[in-house]
Amino acid sequence: MRVLITGGLGFIGAWTARVLFEQGHDVRTFDVHAERALFDAIAGDTHSRQVEHRTGDITDPAAVDAAVDGCDGVVHLAAVLIPTARKDPLLGARINVLGTLHVFEAAKRAGVRGIAYASSAAVFGAHDGIHPEPRTHYGAYKACNEGNARAYWDDVGIRSVGLRPSTVYGPGREIGVTADPTLAMRAAAEGQPYTIRFTGATGMDYVEDVARIFARAATDTPDGAHAFSLQGQLARIDEVVAAIRAEVPDSQVRAEGPELMFAAELDEAPLHAVFPDVHRTPLAEGTRKTIEFYRT
Ligand SMILES: NC(=O)c1ccc[n+]([C@@H]2O[C@H](COP(=O)([O-])OP(=O)(O)OC[C@H]3O[C@@H](n4cnc5c(N)ncnc54)[C@H](O)[C@@H]3O)[C@@H](O)[C@H]2O)c1
Repeated sequence: MRVLITGGLGFIGAWTARVLFEQGHDVRTFDVHAERALFDAIAGDTHSRQVEHRTGDITDPAAVDAAVDGCDGVVHLAAVLIPTARKDPLLGARINVLGTLHVFEAAKRAGVRGIAYASSAAVFGAHDGIHPEPRTHYGAYKACNEGNARAYWDDVGIRSVGLRPSTVYGPGREIGVTADPTLAMRAAAEGQPYTIRFTGATGMDYVEDVARIFARAATDTPDGAHAFSLQGQLARIDEVVAAIRAEVPDSQVRAEGPELMFAAELDEAPLHAVFPDVHRTPLAEGTRKTIEFYRT
């Protein structure tokens, strides 16, 4: 299959490309920038034959149409994260909401029947990981996208899977509110001090696992419009700090600050009911792999 990855030069995009390459698929990336250092570091430059990079803006419907044309499946990741959406809610809506509509419209025109898209645990409020009640513009955009995805299934039969991770971590995670655990692992690998700027608990989700779920959802999309929460490993931030210290005993990593504004405890059972073979990397192993990556 040829799979389009919007936001394909970003963190989860590069890992998803790597997984799709390993499975023998062709990949087309679509991203607003053309900086490929992260992509090459994660996906590897040996795969250049199987990848086609396109530069364009998800807010431009003609560019999205052209990117979707000729693809069999789509992984839609292009978005701005919480800090940008908080600073400029209108820009955030143009990219995260209208951009997602452009992807579904392009899929409708091109006859693509399977889309895996990034929703987020930010659709939930602080106390309940069952009923969406976003407390950020970013979370509200994601909840809106889930509703639009349901409408595209009901109206024109586009299959979709929205995935709601909490804190995706691993090699290459550098921006966004929940980047701090990875930045702390990198600092520990480099012998630098680091303070994680939030506390409480979160679902720590190793990026390769998340990439595999996106790849699976885009290449084997079930009927319907699904939205699945990803728990990964539920961990308190002091457990994350302990996992880093287990790898780098003299690391000067600590945490202080408010808790995240979305629920930590999520229900992953609906995901497993549809994709029973989903792999979960334990926090200790994911931390070790991440620190190893930054050491080398
Ligand atoms: N990383 C996490 O912990 C996490 C958690 C929940 C949901 N998500 C979602 O997963 C997706 C990927 O996140 P990520 O961590 O890889 O972020 P990222 O910032 O590394 O990747 C997003 C990519 O989208 C691109 N992009 C932004 N605006 C664009 C535009 N106007 N047109 C085209 N491309 C544009 C960026 O250039 C970037 O390469 C996002 O939708 C994000 O909301 C991430």
